[in-house]
Amino acid sequence: MLDCLAETGFVVLRPYASMIEPREWENLTYLDWKSGGDTNFAVLASGDGQDDPRGFWEHGKPDKDGVWTANAEGAPGLSQWVRDVNARFGRVRVIKLQPSTSLASVTEQYLHLDDNNRLNPDGEGRVVRAWLNLTDDPNSYMVLREDRDDPSTEYQIRLPAFSQFVVDTERLWHAVYHAGTAPRYALITSFESGPDLQSWIDANAVVA
Ligand SMILES: [Fe+2]
Repeated sequence: MLDCLAETGFVVLRPYASMIEPREWENLTYLDWKSGGDTNFAVLASGDGQDDPRGFWEHGKPDKDGVWTANAEGAPGLSQWVRDVNARFGRVRVIKLQPSTSLASVTEQYLHLDDNNRLNPDGEGRVVRAWLNLTDDPNSYMVLREDRDDPSTEYQIRLPAFSQFVVDTERLWHAVYHAGTAPRYALITSFESGPDLQSWIDANAVVA
């Protein structure tokens, strides 16, 4: 595990400085796939390159070595963001989240852990997830909790345009409270934690 994730299980980075056009995520093919609310997902990289939102274990592999799908061709800025991290990646998806009905629905119903490390070989880096929020949702936030039922363990990550952060989502319970009136979009990528991901985190660290 990376030192920067060991203590809290997450790290918030500087916002992405480049522009990606909304048509890149608005024109993707979205599948009906529910996770953490009223959601749809567009698959940019999957276990075998098919438009398949399921876990890579369905193909007998860990959540690494993602294969770009046809969707990715219409989203060059999004796929370039993944390449620029320059670390081994697995699934790459855009989440489309409808506005939350209430905060209670998030903390009581949608908080969950991800299954990131199934089939991950012993000795290889743990899989964690990185977010690039695409829409500007400054009043929305990701709820993280070490203990699902203990609000005192909660931390909130705000979601303005192009905010970036990394979460060990197999350790931390998580879900987004989306306060907006339009869907919130974000790019979610599984990365192997190791020196390559650390280099990207260091290069994007918040300067105090
Ligand atoms: Fe999740």
